[in-house]
Amino acid sequence: MAELQLTGLAPRAALRAVRQALEQADVPDAAFDARELYRLAVGKDPRLDISPLTAEEAASLAALTARRAGREPLQYIAGQWDFLDFTLAVGPGVLCPRADTEVVCEAAVKLLQASGNPTPTVLDLCAGTGCLGLGIKRFVPGARVTCWEKSPEALAYLRRNARQALPGAEVAVREGDVLTDWQTLPPESADLIVSNPPYLTGAEMQALMPETAREPAMALDGGADGLVFYRCLTGPWKQILRPGGWLVLEIGYEQREAVLALGAENGWVNGSCRQDYGGNDRAVLLQKPRNRE
Ligand SMILES: C[S@@+](CC[C@H](N)C(=O)[O-])C[C@H]1O[C@@H](n2cnc3c(N)ncnc32)[C@H](O)[C@@H]1O
Repeated sequence: MAELQLTGLAPRAALRAVRQALEQADVPDAAFDARELYRLAVGKDPRLDISPLTAEEAASLAALTARRAGREPLQYIAGQWDFLDFTLAVGPGVLCPRADTEVVCEAAVKLLQASGNPTPTVLDLCAGTGCLGLGIKRFVPGARVTCWEKSPEALAYLRRNARQALPGAEVAVREGDVLTDWQTLPPESADLIVSNPPYLTGAEMQALMPETAREPAMALDGGADGLVFYRCLTGPWKQILRPGGWLVLEIGYEQREAVLALGAENGWVNGSCRQDYGGNDRAVLLQKPRNRE
């Protein structure tokens, strides 16, 4: 992409030039991204700004536009992203929090609120930025939340978010491997497990959008059929939940049947699915039977 010459342009003209550059690079939702890049570079909302761009603002906006036109995720360029009503540090090495995942968090929060236990023990397995565990802590402040993550790069963001995203709230972080670490915990010690594990299939890993290809493969790759983590979470992790406890899983939009079937095979009850705001299947909820069920 040729470098944009934006110095002295009025905000609307600069915005138009940025949007066109992004459209030429096939960036989805170029108008939204152009406004966000303007805010990052100039520090003002372009719709309210009237001052022509200074040379410094123009150079900064041109540089950010070039990065986005190279299909770097907007979230990485911003270095932070909102989830529910708080803000998370984000960058290369960690999955960008998605709006779809908010539905998973809301489903877990509703189950905890309905349980009547003000201090539930909650595990967020495969935590990434910590969006799910922190989201639960935000709306169930008495919850004792531990976020589990294996990737050292993701852990750096997770630790930072656990310290900063919810001032005054304590969330524990544990470095470990979800595929084996169930062995390190006492049975029946958790009230709810939430997880958005890697769930793309081998075929999907070969056909990633350019932005997704910049995110860590380790955050995406769920094995040939995409189900490796769901087998472990519905299998051995079940013993870590107390009877009547819940497993809340984010799923890919075509995985509902397969994950509910794994739940049934492994003796979970009350399986159900929630859709995201786009109408796609997004969360599977499974309950561990109470002792007499
Ligand atoms: C799909 S991302 C989800 C991140 C976050 N929960 C979210 O919703 O944005 C999956 C996460 O699992 C982590 N992960 C992959 N394999 C793991 C393993 N064996 N044990 C623990 N975490 C793992 C990845 O590093 C990544 O952060």
